[in-house]
Amino acid sequence: CGIVGVVGSTSTTDILLTGLKRLEYRGYDSAGIYVNDQVGHDYLVKTVGKIAKLEAALTPEVQGTVGIAHTRWATHGQPSVANAHPQFSTSKRFYLVHNGVLNNYHELIDQYLSDVKLASQTDTEVIVQLVAHFVEDEGLTTLAAFQKTLQLLDGSYAILLVDQAHPEQILVGKNKSPLLIGVGDGFNLVSSDALATFDQTENYLELRDQEMAIVQKDNVKIYDAQGVQQSRTITQIKIDHSSVSKGSYPTFMLKEIDEQPAVMRRIAQEYFDEERQVTVDQDLLTALSAADRLYFVAAGTSYHASLVGKRLFEKYTEIPVEVGVASEFGYHWPLLSKRPFFVFLSQSGETADSRQVLVEAKRRHLPVLVITNSANSTLAREADYTLLLHAGPEIAVASTKAYTAQIAVEAVLAKALGEKLAIQTAVDFDLLGQLGLAANGMETLVAEKDTWSELAHDYLQTANDAFYIGRGVDYDVSLEAALKLKEISYMHTEGFAAGELKHGTIALIEPGVPVIAFITEQATAAHTRGNVQEVVARGAKVLVIANQDCQDAADQIILPTLTTELMPLLTGVCGQLLAYYATLQRGLNVDQPRNLAKSVTVE
Ligand code: G6P
Repeated sequence: CGIVGVVGSTSTTDILLTGLKRLEYRGYDSAGIYVNDQVGHDYLVKTVGKIAKLEAALTPEVQGTVGIAHTRWATHGQPSVANAHPQFSTSKRFYLVHNGVLNNYHELIDQYLSDVKLASQTDTEVIVQLVAHFVEDEGLTTLAAFQKTLQLLDGSYAILLVDQAHPEQILVGKNKSPLLIGVGDGFNLVSSDALATFDQTENYLELRDQEMAIVQKDNVKIYDAQGVQQSRTITQIKIDHSSVSKGSYPTFMLKEIDEQPAVMRRIAQEYFDEERQVTVDQDLLTALSAADRLYFVAAGTSYHASLVGKRLFEKYTEIPVEVGVASEFGYHWPLLSKRPFFVFLSQSGETADSRQVLVEAKRRHLPVLVITNSANSTLAREADYTLLLHAGPEIAVASTKAYTAQIAVEAVLAKALGEKLAIQTAVDFDLLGQLGLAANGMETLVAEKDTWSELAHDYLQTANDAFYIGRGVDYDVSLEAALKLKEISYMHTEGFAAGELKHGTIALIEPGVPVIAFITEQATAAHTRGNVQEVVARGAKVLVIANQDCQDAADQIILPTLTTELMPLLTGVCGQLLAYYATLQRGLNVDQPRNLAKSVTVE
């Protein structure tokens, strides 16, 4: 979910609406806004669906000088007007938006709210009803009630509260969910992400876990959990306006797919000096070279990029690597090696599953690196070391340029570390040349949009199921390509180790089922071709994507050959383009697929 708040601006409604649109990547199944003009009028508007629906429902009088707004990704309770935020107290005095999940809301209802008739199925309503209960039934001030309520909450939250009786301020609470306070000129802002408010200010105050704040139009006070006032210096966050607009593109996803050659070149520029030497923070390399095992932890597409990272690091640094899905790792820690080092991959730097593992790693005093696209994110702030992807904001829910950027940055680090450890393979690795080849290869791929559109049409348009297969790094990319296709086209898609298919899943192959095979690894190409024959024999419609070193005359797509571990820089783009066009041809929303959010800040 995404939240925005403003106090002190006469353009409150506009700022909130613009902010919500920019936060839509955090969820978009319902949205709402509460504004108060501080002279006795207030408005609450909530709708089911995307922000455009909310915008259409706002009548001209919905204006104010203080307001809070929310775009939702449902956790507790289905998307409905009643469950949309802002949630309010029965007295309609208190209005609240929340991002996060409470673990103990049933207990809180039993203990404090058994007499209250709740109007929604959300855990959030419990928070606002608790504040109201402490004010209205126990006589506490709103501030004391808010502080008491925060202390009772077990879970993750970023909360904004407006009291209709004190509309000069927003009360703010944060634990585990991201939240920033934006400092304006004569007004102040609060939001889940600077992206929401970057056109209003570049000056931000970071809130830490278990802190609360009182935000008024010309002043911000921050307190820790004990009520001790905290000082905080301003952090400048600059976001390039053009990077968050679609420009002439019909969708963000297509724009981001097309940006990948430029991202490869930018990574080469950022991480190589004029003498063509790879340059990475020496302290990070020293810390890494002391490790006897690396633990990569990530979710979704970033997890798939970590699988490729394992291959890169084991080849170029000779340090063993273990890769974990964050939500699993966090509650099933493996036996660690003697000198572990943690590497988190996260496009957003906000994923709660990954952060949970990071917090535990820090608690155990283990060294932590975050590879992220977001310099100001929670994970970046909390890690010992950060490497940036330099991919520019990624807006489409399906990750594209962040995936290839993650692989490129992993390669940079693997080379730099390998060189430090005097591993000859790393010294010999012409990564700069490879990134150049990758950029050129990507350029050719994205220039052939008609080909990809036709392939999507021929292979995927009428299919209900699809399979991606490959071995080694082609298997890693099969997982990612399958995720891309299923998450936006809603086709049932699986990525499979080509050789494993025959051990059960081949039973699903029927005449006409599309099977897309990646064949870019010379050592296993012949075996994968054998697996292709097995599915052809059962009627599958096979599309082969190979590289020059492994090509066969009948293959539909031939890619230039890169170092094996870097082939996903090209095969990954093929998967993205197929998913993109298959989805477009089905008439679906490419950028905002159903049920998903780009940044999932709940576990
Ligand atoms: C969400 C997104 C995925 C993304 C995953 C991890 O589920 O929908 O596209 O891969 O989170 O996100 P991160 O920002 O940590 O890379």
